[in-house]
Amino acid sequence: MRVSSAGVFCILLVLVAWISPALATAPTPVRPLTNGIPGVPGSDAISPGDGAMVSFTHVAGATFYRICLADPGGACFNGNPLVSVNQRVQGPPLTQGLTISFIVTGLEARIGQSIDWRVRACTGQTATTAQCQELSENQTVIVLLPPAVIPENVSQIIPVNQSVTFQWTNHPLANAPPQLIVLPDWTNTRLQPIFTSANPTTVVAPGLSIALQPNTTSHTITLSDALKPAIKWAVANCRNYPNKGRRCSQLLTPWKKMRVANIFMFQLAFTFNERRCQSCHAAAATNFQIGAIPGLPANHAAVNATMNNQSTQNNQGCRSCHTDALLPTLGNINPGWHAPPASMDFRGKSIGQLCQMARAPGSPSAVFRHLMNDKLILWAVGDGRVPNGTTLSLASPSSIEEWRHAVVLWIEAGMPC
Ligand code: HEC
Ligand code: HEC
Repeated sequence: MRVSSAGVFCILLVLVAWISPALATAPTPVRPLTNGIPGVPGSDAISPGDGAMVSFTHVAGATFYRICLADPGGACFNGNPLVSVNQRVQGPPLTQGLTISFIVTGLEARIGQSIDWRVRACTGQTATTAQCQELSENQTVIVLLPPAVIPENVSQIIPVNQSVTFQWTNHPLANAPPQLIVLPDWTNTRLQPIFTSANPTTVVAPGLSIALQPNTTSHTITLSDALKPAIKWAVANCRNYPNKGRRCSQLLTPWKKMRVANIFMFQLAFTFNERRCQSCHAAAATNFQIGAIPGLPANHAAVNATMNNQSTQNNQGCRSCHTDALLPTLGNINPGWHAPPASMDFRGKSIGQLCQMARAPGSPSAVFRHLMNDKLILWAVGDGRVPNGTTLSLASPSSIEEWRHAVVLWIEAGMPC
């Protein structure tokens, strides 16, 4: 009798189905992981919007998998379907131990809840003959929430009494009370530095991370001075896990900014009133008198208006001592060391007058260029070196970065005075 090759194949198939060799191991869940990928927030969460993908290690010989999504400690709510390896998210050819991924469905109704998932590897050539083996370990993950919304009319101004109400839309936060996070505006808000897996409920001072009651949709606090003049805030999804404590895995809202009404008064005016700015801005007004405070210090060499005029001094004058090498490297405007005209005297001016002086260069872009990049200003807030080899104390905020940040906030706010 002549047996066709197709016939041989059929016989083999039946044999394989009958024999169904026991698989070496159970698959090991890979994504999402209960313990998270170190330093990667959200690695223990699954989001329907994200494609709801689960991954585990492939077991050599497996032709099907049964992926069960279950209520914690309960039965599979997704029907525990048998899925062929061919339905996997395509990747490199399968080998033992390689990660294999599948898109799972049926999560929409579980948003905001914890679920368990587990998987079995199965052998066999058809769904009806498939035999499933050892079960993987059980993994608890959360199904992420859709983003919350901050109403349009939530104030972006911090009132004088600094009492601020944060508000957002409600959420089906089944077992995860929201976490309110308030940071100084200049804080880096990539998730990783904030949600350290070591202690996500703490943020670097003066920032705040406050665990709220379930279903809370607003929270009022009195901001500390250290958080002025501007903050950013968001609401996050954090949970207590039995095996690893509290972890935050997702921001429910985007970051929202809030600032004091008069940034100039709270942030920039201090600097204008400091000796490092005032001395130079008083030098011409005090007729280059030695020992005028603020103005030229008692030990200063005698100088005069002629010497201050760079054009008559062949671009030297004050610069013969205060060389360009004594200016900060930051800033791309170098007017050369000299004192401003007496009309720019900062002494005894009201905050409003100082604010007008700060706006004097005109357009926001001109003000921006001047305050951000003039080396004389940056010298006062971030350098302070003088010709005799000493370094004078700096004008607040004693950091070019922070000074520039305050300037940007004020300009963004429309340069209010
Ligand atoms: C080495 C001297 C020097 C120091 C120090 C200095 N300035 Fe000036 N500043 C000038 C000069 C000179 C001008 C005039 C503009 C020009 O001629 O380019 C000026 C102009 C200004 C103006 C424009 C005022 C107007 O009415 O147009 C502002 C604002 C200003 N400075 C702010 C500051 C601040 C703030 C500091 C301290 C952080 C500071 N300056 C430190 C020399 C100085
Ligand atoms: C002979 C060298 C020399 C010349 C020329 C000179 N300076 Fe100075 N300047 C110094 C030294 C040294 C200091 C540091 C003094 C101290 O220890 O406070 C200084 C400090 C300053 C300060 C800082 C004061 C403060 O409290 O922030 C200003 C402003 C200043 N000089 C302006 C001028 C101006 C404007 C001119 C030109 C008209 C000028 N200097 C010319 C040597 C000089």
